[in-house]
Amino acid sequence: MSAPGRIEELLSAVKTSFADGSLVRLKLGGYHGSEPDLKSVEIKKIALKAGDRFSFTYRYKTRDIIKNFIQPEALALLRAGLRDEFRSAQLATTQFDMSFERNGDKIRLKRTEVSGRQAPSTEHNRAKNRLLAETNKPYLHALGITGKDGQVRNDAQDKFRQINKMVEIFAPLIQAIKADKPRIVDMGAGKGYLDFALYDYLGGKAEIIGVEMRPKLVEDGNATAAASGFEGLSFQPGTILDYDATGADAVIALHACDTATDDAIFKGISAGAWLIAVAPCCHKQIRREMEAGQPEGKLDVLLRHGIFLERQAEMVTDALRALLLELNGYRTKVFEFVSDAHTPKNNLIVAEKDGRAGRDREAVLRQIAETKAMFGIKQHYLEGLLGI
Ligand SMILES: C[S@@+](CC[C@H](N)C(=O)[O-])C[C@H]1O[C@@H](n2cnc3c(N)ncnc32)[C@H](O)[C@@H]1O
Repeated sequence: MSAPGRIEELLSAVKTSFADGSLVRLKLGGYHGSEPDLKSVEIKKIALKAGDRFSFTYRYKTRDIIKNFIQPEALALLRAGLRDEFRSAQLATTQFDMSFERNGDKIRLKRTEVSGRQAPSTEHNRAKNRLLAETNKPYLHALGITGKDGQVRNDAQDKFRQINKMVEIFAPLIQAIKADKPRIVDMGAGKGYLDFALYDYLGGKAEIIGVEMRPKLVEDGNATAAASGFEGLSFQPGTILDYDATGADAVIALHACDTATDDAIFKGISAGAWLIAVAPCCHKQIRREMEAGQPEGKLDVLLRHGIFLERQAEMVTDALRALLLELNGYRTKVFEFVSDAHTPKNNLIVAEKDGRAGRDREAVLRQIAETKAMFGIKQHYLEGLLGI
């Protein structure tokens, strides 16, 4: 049989096993194409809401990237890859194995019958289908997410789910920025969970700087970044307000305490960042103002109970932040970014630069003034930073 004929024979086996549920995996090796650091590709079937897909895990030297394809795309990629880029392939199904070896123009295809092998459940795959699929990574171990065996620890499953969720939300926002290698500044980075995961997921296609005032966290973060080979990820010691964010394409801050969130927003606006995304933490400044001021009497029903006052302070603080961002030319969305089962501090304010936002400055300023008057607020801390 001709070489193209052998490739088609393998593809036909892949297609049939995908269709009848007997596909276990297909692994491509011996890569000699143009992608730097690509070692192998592993292909499985997964069940997504939109339908069954071929899930390709591209294994690079220091990271994995997963891409899902519909059948015609997957078969076209496999056909080209087997012809030009991969010297070997191993197909495993529940009934037989097929090994493929290419040497120049010569192709050897060998089929071996097997028995008693089960196909992995695609439902199971769906539950586990996390963006950070490969967990045997130095940074996940350094952050206490995985054990020595490279598996997610039982007591870190929630944290790992949260990290995946954050990557799911942040990656498309970063990818939408029109810059070859966007510079992302994470204010109040802490241990840098998001920074490591995002850098890993984006495959180094971003520069990420974590700003953190606790020197030990900065030292540990830089050591782990170096050990992971993450050249474009670094941590800087110091406060948010002291950091020169000039040139930042995105400024993010997750649970930076109280007004540190405002410091981050201010730095983002001043730098003209395309994206500002903050998950606020406590909201003490506005709560104090509401307690000391004279909110409209009819609000008493909402403000006389401590827990309601706290929630109102949170909403008013963030609503004013959103208005102040709008005033500065940002289109703003606020949504819940992780389930409140993980943390009650789960709102995310996402602001994207958009010339049309806040065009009617007078109307936005009036809304800010009315909101403040209603809740007895003299000044939002962010207004002070912005000189309003
Ligand atoms: C609650 S932790 C959150 C850490 C990280 N963003 C996360 O979500 O895992 C807040 C971090 O912000 C840092 N931080 C608070 N205010 C800061 C400031 N003004 N400048 C720099 N870092 C600050 C704290 O030291 C702490 O590590």
